[in-house]
This record gives sequence, C-alpha cells and structure tokens, in this order.
Amino acid sequence: MRVGVIGLGYLGVTHAVAMASLGHEVVGIEASAERLGKLKEGELPFFEPGLAAGLADAIAAGNLSFAAAASAADDCDLYFLCVGTPQLSGSNAADTSFVFAAGEALAKVIDEETVVVGKSTVPVGTAASLRKKMSEIAGFDVKIAWNPEFLREGTALEDSLKPDRIVIGAWHQESVDALRNCYEKIIATGTPVIETDVATSELVKVAANAFLATKISFINAMAEVAEVAGADAVSLAEAIGYDERIGKKFLRTGVGFGGGCLPKDIRGFVARAEELGVGQAVSFLRDVDAINLRRRERVIELANEQLGDLEGRRVLVLGLAFKPDSDDMRDSPALDVALGLASAGALVTVHDPVALEALGDNHPQLERARDLDSAFAGQELVVLATEWQQYRELSPQAVASKVAARTIIDARNVLDVPDWQAAGWKVIALGRNVHN
Ligand code: UGA
Repeated sequence: MRVGVIGLGYLGVTHAVAMASLGHEVVGIEASAERLGKLKEGELPFFEPGLAAGLADAIAAGNLSFAAAASAADDCDLYFLCVGTPQLSGSNAADTSFVFAAGEALAKVIDEETVVVGKSTVPVGTAASLRKKMSEIAGFDVKIAWNPEFLREGTALEDSLKPDRIVIGAWHQESVDALRNCYEKIIATGTPVIETDVATSELVKVAANAFLATKISFINAMAEVAEVAGADAVSLAEAIGYDERIGKKFLRTGVGFGGGCLPKDIRGFVARAEELGVGQAVSFLRDVDAINLRRRERVIELANEQLGDLEGRRVLVLGLAFKPDSDDMRDSPALDVALGLASAGALVTVHDPVALEALGDNHPQLERARDLDSAFAGQELVVLATEWQQYRELSPQAVASKVAARTIIDARNVLDVPDWQAAGWKVIALGRNVHN
C-alpha cells in the first residue's frame, strides 16, 4: 500500500519505519525543515534503540521517502495522523490544534476513497469533530478511523511491530478493511484486533495510560505509608504482585512516572471528563498525579535531611531522562529533582548516558558531567534518579573512594543495598525500611 505518515515525532518516525518494514511504500510528511533534513540523511532527531538502523534500512530499500507537506504526497491510499497533542500551556487539557491543522491540510488533497487514520492520543470526541471539519473542506464524507498506538519509548519499534493488540475505531467498513490490509502481516502472527466505535478507540488509549499511571501511584502511595510505618514497599509490591489479578508489572516504586504521555494524558483525561460533565468519575486521577509529584519532593526532602542544609552542598544526580534508553526529558522526575535541588541551593552535577546532548544549553545551573567516573569526585550526596543499566552496574567500592561522603539516595530502588552498605555507603531508598 502507499502510506502517508503525517508528523515525524517519536510516534510518526517509528510508525513510518514500521510500515516500511512491512513492505509498504511510505511517505513521511513533516513540516519542520530541520527535522526533515536530518531524517532524509538517516539521522534520528531523538534517541531510540534500534530505530536508526530501521530508518537506514527503510531508506536504503527505497520504501521510505519524505515530503514537507501532504500536498506533495497526495497519492496515498492511507494516511496516518501522528502529530503531537501536548498539554496546553496554562491548562490541563490536551492541545489538539496540530491534529486539526494536519487534518485540514490533508482534506484539501484527498479523494473519497482515501482513508485517514488518527494515531495521536486525543480527547474523546476529537475524531468526530475532525470528521466534520475535514468533510466540510473536502466536500464529501471523509473516511476517518482511529487506531491508537501503545508503543513505549525505549522499545518503540518492537512495540509497533509486535503490539499486544490492534484497536480500530471506525465509521466506515472501508477504513477497517484498509487497516486490516495494512497490518496484515502483524495480524497473521495472531495479534488480537478489536474493532469498535471511534469514541471507544479514543478512550482506550487514555484509559490504558490512566490505568498504568494509577498502578504506579498506587504503589508509591504504599511507599509513603511504608516510610512512616517502618515497612518496605519493594517487598510489598513483590508480595501483592504474585496475585495474578494484581500482577507485578508497573509496580516499581520510586520517584514516579514522567515522560510525554502518562502525566499529560491523565491531566487531559480529567479536563475532558469535566467538559463532558463527568469530572467526578475520574477525579481520582488528580490524586494519582499528586502522589506522583510528591515523590519528587520527597527526594529533595530526603536530601535535605541527609545534608542538614542544601545551600552550597555538592550533589550528583545520576540520570536526566524520564526513563532509561531514552533521551526524553519531558516531565522527567530526574530533571525535576535536579532542578529542585539546585533551587534549594545545592551545587548540582548531572550525568546521563544520552540526555546531556538533548539538554543543550538549558538549565545552566546544572553542572554537566560527561564522564561517569569523574562525576563522583568530591560529591557529598549521590541521587540515582533514572535506572540506566550503567548505574545499576556501578561498583560501590570503586566510587566510594571518590566521593566526599558516602551517601546515596536510590530513587528507583535498583541498587543492591547490602552490597553498597558493605562498601561503607549509607543508602536511602524510597519507600524502604533500610537500616544503615
Ligand atoms: C507509555 C505507555 O506505557 C505506552 O503504552 C504508551 O503508548 C505511551 O506511554 C504513550 O502514550 O505514547 P512511555 O511513556 O514510553 O509509555 O513509558 P513507560 O514505560 O510507560 O514509563 C512511564 C514512566 O513510568 C517512566 O517515567 C517510568 O520510569 C515510570 N514507571 C514505570 C515507574 O515509575 N514504575 C513502574 O513500575 C513503571
């Protein structure tokens, strides 16, 4: 099939590469000339394991090309809308203006047979408004469907090609047929397909992210209780996780969730539910958000307790990205903690295996450490904020000789506490009852 992918951010690049690898003839459509220029050269504008190789393969095989606008690629059978829906500034709601801008431009160049598929995460009801708007412009009933994406950063390509499920929300049978055709190879491996109405397909995505966020905040709420009750939230998570109805996944307690999806999606969900007059139904998500943000404050509180006063004290923060295998710092707990420590007066050094480049010249108050070994020199406190593999593998003995004081806050609960203690470290672990 000839497939257009509009919006080459995280989702769009991954989807374009995935579709090309399925054998489709893909055109990636992106308005930013800088981003487009990089992609044409096979260069990824962000860090994602395995994706650069996939991009290079697709370009070399000749089944991925690029265009600056849909008008320059008006002959596709199927278009995927993959533009961003960030949080509106000054509000909790999602900004759908990029979806409408892309849809309206597309409406001018498509014909009645063309199928338009939204993949962006949108407030329920967006697709119906978009259908109306695009149909007015096109002069016919535009075939719009919604097909949410569930990929995770760090494993994006694999998640796209081996999804747990494919959700198709559609008004027209032709859209369902086109999507089934497009995903034929994935469906043939046994991937379940859920055909549903469009509103449900929009809701599925936000509901899934809301559930995941709730699971993380649930265990972090238990961590708050554990901290004062002298209990251990890591053991607690393990113990309840053996119950298959609860499950172990997404019960890792620590400094909480961040990124470009979970935080803004729960906020956008509350905002949309309020508009629909059912705000109460999801008001618990405000608590989910608040619990999550409190964990960041807790790390700063613990740092303060350890150092007495943060003013002028040297603190090393390990990690800036919101999770390992990513350079994404949107709503990152690690970056927030580093900034919070700095605004409390600490002299903060930051290290991250990949995110320093993306940090650029932003936040000059944070001293950059390019080299992990030398980053420890003279530090009075270390905070492990993103669980990169190389931090998990740190030798407590080797770094002990470099620091000014052997105190570490494990804000992700990944260190072998007895091992670190044996090397003379005082270990503070979020939600855990560690005896030092
Ligand atoms: C999330 C969802 O997992 C994807 O299914 C979804 O497609 C995506 O959002 C999206 O909406 O596009 P992602 O943001 O890449 O994916 O990251 P996750 O792996 O979900 O992690 C989110 C945050 O939760 C990270 O900061 C991570 O450190 C934190 N987390 C995760 C925990 O604190 N504890 C856990 O047990 C799991």
